[in-house]
Amino acid sequence: MSADNTSQQINKTIRKDVEKIVDKCDIEDICAQCDAASNKTVSYCRCWKSKKFPFCDGSHNAWNKETGDNVGPLVITKKQA
Ligand code: FES
Repeated sequence: MSADNTSQQINKTIRKDVEKIVDKCDIEDICAQCDAASNKTVSYCRCWKSKKFPFCDGSHNAWNKETGDNVGPLVITKKQA
């Protein structure tokens, strides 16, 4: 049974054609992305506003300013050996 409470949905635009969005990330790929990034971090979106989802593109800043919310990304940093 599926409810139709679209006004209460967190995700308004991302991959609405699938029943459930699940992203899988290989830890070695994340480490490689960290190594390649100038700030040595990878940030994953938790606000559902990013145009680069599942990665954060900073869209949470506009959302927080507009709504007074306080959401932000999951930031992953690889420890340097
Ligand atoms: S854009 Fe969603 S947490 Fe940054």
